[in-house]
Amino acid sequence: MNLIKKMLVAPTAVLALWAVAAQAATDEEIAERLKPVGEVCVMGEECKGVGAVAASAGGAARTADDIIAKHCGACHTPGVLGAPKVGDTAAWKARADAKGGLDGILATAISGINAMPPKGTCADCSDDELRGAIQKMSGL
Ligand code: HEC
Repeated sequence: MNLIKKMLVAPTAVLALWAVAAQAATDEEIAERLKPVGEVCVMGEECKGVGAVAASAGGAARTADDIIAKHCGACHTPGVLGAPKVGDTAAWKARADAKGGLDGILATAISGINAMPPKGTCADCSDDELRGAIQKMSGL
């Protein structure tokens, strides 16, 4: 009886420890991922981290994925500050519908709105590049 109890308790304890450790690692990772956004990207100021990456990219042709990775993803991948998430088509569609379609939200993206910086910090992005990034993130 006692042995059976021990056999049941030991793996349970190990599992519980593992779960706590896994949770801690995940929280740390999340904090680490969010940190640069809060630290570096302040409304009205240049987004230094992002700008440095953009500068190192030179003038080479950029794909929508490049722009998202360097500029939009910091906020739109985790969906911080109320940003519609990459792939959450319903959230993007609701916004587009409220503003007369993709051109409407493109215009807001260019001017900026609340915590969304003008051009999403991609100051040298053309309208077409921004449109491509929006289409890719939204699936619209
Ligand atoms: C610093 C964080 C941040 C970055 C970087 C960012 N966005 Fe956003 N974005 C937001 C937030 C927050 C919102 C929601 C704003 C609101 O409605 O209050 C938003 C909303 C939007 C919208 C919807 C606008 C509307 O009219 O509802 C579009 C389109 C958009 N972003 C495109 C982009 C693109 C394209 C990029 C990259 C070039 C980008 N964003 C980069 C934070 C960001």
